[in-house]
Amino acid sequence: MQIIDGKATAAAIKTEIAAEVDRIVKSGGKRPHLAAILVGHDGGSETYVKNKVIACEQCGFKSTLIRFESDISEAELLAEVERLNRDDDVDGFIVQLPLPKHISEQKIIEAIDYKKDVDGFHPINVGRMSIGLPCYISATPNGILDLLQRYDIKTSGKKCVVLGRSNIVGKPMAQLMMQKRTPGDATVTVCHSHSKNLKEECRQADIIIAAIGIPNFVTSDMVKPGAVIIDVGTTRVPDASRKNGFRLNGDVKFDEVAPLCSYITPVPGGVGPMTICSLMKNTLAAGKKEYYK
Ligand code: GUN
Repeated sequence: MQIIDGKATAAAIKTEIAAEVDRIVKSGGKRPHLAAILVGHDGGSETYVKNKVIACEQCGFKSTLIRFESDISEAELLAEVERLNRDDDVDGFIVQLPLPKHISEQKIIEAIDYKKDVDGFHPINVGRMSIGLPCYISATPNGILDLLQRYDIKTSGKKCVVLGRSNIVGKPMAQLMMQKRTPGDATVTVCHSHSKNLKEECRQADIIIAAIGIPNFVTSDMVKPGAVIIDVGTTRVPDASRKNGFRLNGDVKFDEVAPLCSYITPVPGGVGPMTICSLMKNTLAAGKKEYYK
């Protein structure tokens, strides 16, 4: 059994990005610039955005954090998105989700210029991804592909079960794993809250990608010996022994599942660090106008 080290892999990729940014800037090119909009003070979002700003520094990117209180109107937020769409210095930007209930997330996502949509959430990027065209790919699935590739985990012809069907993880993950490429070429099954035979499906899987958001959901009786387990879960569970009062809990019951696996990602330190790293890769691509002029 091998534990997949997402933290080390992410650090290695960020070092590679920083070297490339150095080359670009030294040869007179533009330093990539990521802007992030953060609305309100959600604890998780604050942490994610802070970590994104730190990652930008590590990669040599310029970053701009734009904050609004949670009473900002949808029209005001749309106006800010428009301003960033037009700002030539900003190569890519994100609006951190979730947004307050009075704002339509879908409306905001669709207002972002798809050429600057480094989250890969705009329908144009989602559509291009699903038919295998160059585009920004949603960060978590892309980070998982990087882990599979860097650990040389074979996916071709394998049975892959994706648990969860969210727009930002489950759906794109399933699309990518079935694509004609490496990693990919897998036989993919998506299971969710209405699946009747979820346990049986998991037991037959060579690769399980758990993104269902229920702590310890995947137990040893659901795992075939030798399977590859990718844990996307990051539920905050109260933990009085921690300074901040919580710990992150994956979707997989790690202690009992790990001994059965060929590879497994831990929580934290598995998929999490790779997600921000993927955003950095998309920002570099945006700076280089790699997908769109
Ligand atoms: N909230 C949780 N994950 C993400 C993400 O990848 N991007 C944005 N913008 N918000 C998120």
